[in-house]
Amino acid sequence: MENKKFYITTPIYYPSGKFHIGTAYATTLADCIKRYKALKGYDTYFLTGLDEHGQKIQTVAEKRGLAPQDHVDEMAEACQKLWKQMDISYDDFIRTTEERHEKAVDKIVEKFLANNDIYKGEYEGWYCMPCENYFTETQLMDGKCPDCGREVKLMKEESYFFNMKKYQDWLLQFYEENPDFIVPESRKNEIFNNFLKPGLEDLCISRTTFDWGIKMKNDPKHVLYVWVDALTNYITALGYASNDDALFQKYWPADLHIVGKEIIRFHGIYWPIFLKALGLEMPKKIYAHSWLVMKDGKMSKSKGNVIYPETLIERYGLDSLKYYLLRTMQFATDSIFTPEDFVDRYNFDLCNDLGNLLNRTIGMINKYFAGSVPTEISQKNAVDDELEEFTIQEMNEFEKNMEQFFISNALSNVWKIISRTNKYIDETAPWVLAKEENKAKLESCMFHLVETLRKIAILLKPFMPETAEKMFLQLGIKSENLKTWDSLKSYDNLPKDIQVAEKGEALFMRKDRQEEIEYIQDIMKK
Ligand code: MSP
Repeated sequence: MENKKFYITTPIYYPSGKFHIGTAYATTLADCIKRYKALKGYDTYFLTGLDEHGQKIQTVAEKRGLAPQDHVDEMAEACQKLWKQMDISYDDFIRTTEERHEKAVDKIVEKFLANNDIYKGEYEGWYCMPCENYFTETQLMDGKCPDCGREVKLMKEESYFFNMKKYQDWLLQFYEENPDFIVPESRKNEIFNNFLKPGLEDLCISRTTFDWGIKMKNDPKHVLYVWVDALTNYITALGYASNDDALFQKYWPADLHIVGKEIIRFHGIYWPIFLKALGLEMPKKIYAHSWLVMKDGKMSKSKGNVIYPETLIERYGLDSLKYYLLRTMQFATDSIFTPEDFVDRYNFDLCNDLGNLLNRTIGMINKYFAGSVPTEISQKNAVDDELEEFTIQEMNEFEKNMEQFFISNALSNVWKIISRTNKYIDETAPWVLAKEENKAKLESCMFHLVETLRKIAILLKPFMPETAEKMFLQLGIKSENLKTWDSLKSYDNLPKDIQVAEKGEALFMRKDRQEEIEYIQDIMKK
């Protein structure tokens, strides 16, 4: 067992409204990678949370007739309820309004001031309210916000600035020495060419136009502008600059920051510079994932194309949603959600391919061996070795893909094993072996089916933990030792006394295609 640590984070979300399946993706992805690393024996720590300050939140709260704190308290509860429903295995949930965060941020700002990284000036720029971000004239796209495409306003105010220019050369060199710091490469090139090479602008880090934020101790009419407050969550949650920084000592630097593609600039430029200014180690890697969009563009309530995770979970089960997101989302390009695609993946991949394979296997072992899995093999079928070799090869590919966060490809590897195993049943034709009373070959066939399904269940643990457990249960695999990464290696560790479930239960119930497509189209409009 490797005993390395793995610290993974998601972005902290704005609690401005209900989370749709697109927003739920980053957390689902982080959860999957965390579970994969844990399966491989890493000591993992998974942080998520909420980015609760800023004008946007203040405005949303006002619209609801609530004090901002009451609004974010309510949202935090709803968010944690959703993550619980989605079985997200986070270790800590940080809220930027928590005292532990605010106190540490005070200390961080003190350090920046003492180090002359921060100075007072006046800022004028094009401000995008929803993104809480200023842009220069040249950064605008058709006069609108380059990130979200919405209207911007020319604004001027007294502000504190972070001296980014001071760190420009250092950051360029850092990127030269760490070419894989950001993946995919296209995202790195984007910030490198658009922001770093042309020369960094100093970053405006405070506001006086609203007060829902952390007040600067040295000048309380200023509240911190969101990025100093937000990015530092990754260290304040671990107890950095507090009386107890044991977690920080243990887990920092982060091994992986998962972020959406539109916030890569903040993570790829400002975050390393803040850390450098604090004299801290750089994170190991940032994965800027792409977006889940709809045929007509971004999901939005006004377009009537939003899907919430709860609705899909209620009808199709949690693992169907997780499977869909992790299988559909590509490494570097946006993916489009369609009801057709969702229903087809559910019916074909989950019900037919995986569900039937398990069901047929359980049925045959009950029929031919009264439920007891044969483990002493005296004669093999012609295709047994082939199945073993194929499975090993795909497991190796699976690992390679997971290490590069090619999550969808890794799931394809599992489905290749599933398809190969279904074909294996047709090739060995156990019903013929039974008729011919070829017990030795029938035993080998049943053994290979159970053993391959056990491996499939292990590989599926990071993606669909509930389904993996259901599979183990039906296969009669009780020992935790038979559910480990290490136990994937051999083909001969099934004990003698394995008894499959008396009756196989469908993992997923097949549904009518047209009816389901209409159902999903309907919920999108609500
Ligand atoms: N609060 C900032 C992040 C600060 S991190 C120090 C923020 N919050 S957010 O709520 O707007 O977005 C949270 C995450 O959800 C982002 O990483 C964003 O990319 C992701 N997504 C929002 N909609 C999405 C899709 N439709 N598809 C995939 N991810 C999307 O940004």
